[in-house]
Amino acid sequence: MDVEDLEKAARVVRSMLEAEIKDKYSDEVLKNWLDPQYMGEISCPEGYAKLTGSCGDEMAFFLRVRDGKITDVKFSTDGCITSIAAGNAGAELISGRMIDEALMLKASDILTVLHGLPPEDEHCAQLAMDVIKEALRDYFLTRREPWRKDY
Ligand code: FES
Repeated sequence: MDVEDLEKAARVVRSMLEAEIKDKYSDEVLKNWLDPQYMGEISCPEGYAKLTGSCGDEMAFFLRVRDGKITDVKFSTDGCITSIAAGNAGAELISGRMIDEALMLKASDILTVLHGLPPEDEHCAQLAMDVIKEALRDYFLTRREPWRKDY
């Protein structure tokens, strides 16, 4: 097999994988996965949490809060397509919201934004929402007891 044959085989495998991914996930999942606008970190965030999901993937959320409003949000994860999509959709959902509104959100709201996930991937939305809630909890704790922050 020469280089040209290998390149041709790679193109075939790639198009098969793309077709499989497009069959399995909605356009919203693909958009949030391929262009995760909220992926990143915020230095010295007012709210921060990092959790490990049942699958072993980690996700972290960083919140900037001003006058009770989430003015900036970023997330990071070492997870798969759906972890990235769920993290990004969760970040988009809380961005610009008042804290009390964000506290009312559920994992099902992330699934709605993503137009659903395959059942075996729905836990990714739960992980994202669990980390968001934990980061909001951290914000409240830090506001009450600023000495808890170790930076
Ligand atoms: Fe682990 Fe989604 S596969 S959080």
